Formats: sequence, structure tokens, C-alpha cells
Amino acid sequence: MPLADLLHASWPATILIADDDMGVRRVLRRALEGAGYRVVEARTGVQAVALGDEERPDLFILDISMPGVDGVEICRAIKDDPDTHLTPVIHITGQSERDDRLRALEAGSDEFVAKPFDIEEILVRVRSLLRTKRLTDHLVSDEAVLVALSRTVEARDNYTERHLYRVADRSVGMARRMGMSEREIESVRLGGLYHDLGKIAVPDRVLHKPAALDRAEYALVRRHPEAGAEIVRPLRAFDGPEAAVLHHHERFDGTGYPYGLRGEEIPLAARIVAVADAFDAMTTDRPYRAALPHDVALQRLSDGSGEQWDPLIIELFLAQYVGGVKEVEIAEGL
Ligand SMILES: [Fe+2]
Repeated sequence: MPLADLLHASWPATILIADDDMGVRRVLRRALEGAGYRVVEARTGVQAVALGDEERPDLFILDISMPGVDGVEICRAIKDDPDTHLTPVIHITGQSERDDRLRALEAGSDEFVAKPFDIEEILVRVRSLLRTKRLTDHLVSDEAVLVALSRTVEARDNYTERHLYRVADRSVGMARRMGMSEREIESVRLGGLYHDLGKIAVPDRVLHKPAALDRAEYALVRRHPEAGAEIVRPLRAFDGPEAAVLHHHERFDGTGYPYGLRGEEIPLAARIVAVADAFDAMTTDRPYRAALPHDVALQRLSDGSGEQWDPLIIELFLAQYVGGVKEVEIAEGL
């Protein structure tokens, strides 16, 4: 069972209903329990807040006007808390509560249902919001686990965690300038974060060997793109980072690994991450050498254009970098 499914094995979903009208609560509870959900009820806003902390529901159905803390304030607290900001909130409103609806929208409300409500409509909205939440939960927990693992790998390899984020940020910058879609850009970002995840499969004695690696040890190191791709492969919810992870050591001239792909056979995300990774590795202190000055690293990228790296991406990277330096100079000149 994938890790994310284990973390979310507590389905069926829990729904918190908060309404001071007992009749409304009764109708909702009957319908939601009939549809297989677990329901907890609160009569007041204060009770709803306490129960929300205790039960961590998967969805809230809140009356807007309740004595004490009202449904809009509860919604704002839910949406402001990083632990619960992705939890959906449905508000029940009267027909004449236009101002309340606007306040609730501004507080992050996901849906409104007007009284007197159609119970079938509520069930459809609940189902749809919970489907989205379940998907988001999987993505969030997958990413949290994999970033934690990637940071461990970088630490073992004597990089700081900033290496990962710099590779991801620079890769995203290039992807944007190439006009890639938001979906593709997200794959590139994750590819930057996870590119060396597979080094978790390389033993310390090899990773930290002070002398040159023998053939068998080098083969172990060269396994890391495939090992990393196996770890991220279950991320099927959208175009995942697998291609960037698997191919970040391919070379444009076809002499890289693991498959010796050449030119545009190498997925674009991997060609981008390869450049960002190389630049950051060159400009970072390593145990066996000091960081190279930026202009030397840029020259090396330029020298390897068309051999190790895609010339188009190198051109973009250099242009952006030179542009960035110019901007700094201009700002300092002022
Ligand atoms: Fe690598």
C-alpha cells in the first residue's frame, strides 16, 4: 500500500455540522450518515471550534449566524491555520444574508447552500469537495515525506538543504521563460527537489569514500537516477517528476546515463534540471574543492553547451544570469 494511503486510511470522512437549529442538524445528520459519513455536531460556534480541534474533521458545514462565534469567524480560523487551510467549508445561509455571504467568501468559504436546502444538492457538493480534499491530502503528504527524504540525502552528501531549493527555483525560472504550462512547471519544480533522492540507495562507504571509486562503486552511484525514479513513480496524480529524476545525468551528446539518450530524446524537464544542478554544484563548497566563482562556472556551462547540456537552455540560463548581474549593478549604481 502506498505511504499516502496508509496515512489516510481513516476514511470514511468525518463531517462537522454546526447549526443552532436542531431540526437542520437532524436532517443533515440523517442524510450524511445514510451516505456513509461520520458526523459530529455542534450547537454553537464555541462548541464547533472545540470539536474541530478535537476531531480534525475532513469537512465543515457551518451555519453563518450562530450565537457567540459565528460561522464566518470559524471559517477564517480554519483557513488561516496551515494544518487545516485545505479543509473544505460549506456555509448554510438564509436567502437574505447577502452581506454574510460576501464576508464568508472573503474568509475562504468553499460552497454555499441556501435555506431551505435541497439535501441531494448538499450530498453532491460534499462528495465533490471531499474527493478534492482526499487528492490534495495525498499530494501534500507525498511531497512532505519526499522532501524530508531528499533533505536527508543532501545532508549525507555534504550539501545543505538550500541546494535542493536553489536547483528547484532556478529550474522553475527557466521553465517559465520557456513558456511551459503550470502543470509542466510543477513537474520541473518537483524534479529539482527530488533529483538526487535515489542516492539514498548508495551506501555511505561509497558516497563518502575519500579515494577514487572502483568500477563496482561507480556503478552503484550511477544507479541513483533509476532508484530515485522508482521512489517518485507512485506520484501519478499529475505529470510527476519521474522524467527529470530519471534523466538528469543524460548528456546532450548521448554519452550520459542511465540510457545514453541524446538531444531532444532527453525529456525537457531533465535537460533543465541538469543545468540548474550543475551550476549549483559548481558554485557550492565541496569537501574536496572550494566553490568556483560564478563567472568561472558560467564559462564552464558555456564550454559544455551542446556536449553535456542543451545549447538552448544554456543560452537561456546565461542570458538570465547576465541580465540578473546587470540589474544588481544598475541598482547599486543608483
Ligand atoms: Fe544526480
